[in-house]
Amino acid sequence: MEKRIPIIAGNWKMHLNLASAKELIDEIKKTVMHTRDREVLVAPPFVYLISVREFIADSAIYLSAQNMHWDEKGAYTGEISASMLIEAGCTHVILGHSERRHLFGETDDFIDLKVKMAHQSGIKPILCIGEDLSQRENGETFEVIKSQLEGSLKSFIEQRTTPYDLIIAYEPVWAIGTGQTATPDQAQEVHCFIRQWIGDTFGRELSGKIRILYGGSVKPANISELMAQPDIDGVLVGGASLNAEQFIPIINYDKKEG
Ligand code: 13P
Repeated sequence: MEKRIPIIAGNWKMHLNLASAKELIDEIKKTVMHTRDREVLVAPPFVYLISVREFIADSAIYLSAQNMHWDEKGAYTGEISASMLIEAGCTHVILGHSERRHLFGETDDFIDLKVKMAHQSGIKPILCIGEDLSQRENGETFEVIKSQLEGSLKSFIEQRTTPYDLIIAYEPVWAIGTGQTATPDQAQEVHCFIRQWIGDTFGRELSGKIRILYGGSVKPANISELMAQPDIDGVLVGGASLNAEQFIPIINYDKKEG
């Protein structure tokens, strides 16, 4: 089976300022210089992207946006296009984060258009999916995940094209910012389901290659256990990605060779 390079991604959400971003990047750079077997990525707020691109210059850190619009251009006040993100130095974009879905009303239909536009534009989509607490308690987790995948990747399914650059982030809503991490077994079970679905829908070649990240209260204390699971290929970290004391040990987790 093909080796999947782990991704450690920091989603800054609406946090930090330029000075603290620079300090944090300087620390991350020192660590990343010595790490070749994993990819490290940061997702700052839009207005910091161009500055952070300068901060990470000459390092192997990747730059991601936290959202984007689905159209090429147009009268969309307050929105940002894929080509603008690319010009700002982004290689990745987080799409369909649960905060976008729940606080800003983003539906699978919108997310599908965004994933398609990212793919067409050459910016790698990190598609977020995950069930909320009541859905988990009602035993609906797999149903919800399946429906989010079907909805957010509808264009690819209908047009029979393969989202070969797709990255998926499984983020159970009940674990985001709550300190309540999914157990490695709980996360593995859903990751395995996602990989199976990708294989059934787009073929085994993609399911062997696609990287599926876990997000939700990832900390230095739980990273190694999570990363030891066969279908967890990385993490999308919120709170603990905002300071070097926590993010650096996460980047440097012990990798168990399997
Ligand atoms: P926390 O790590 O703060 O739980 O956030 C996770 C997340 O939403 C990353 O996108």
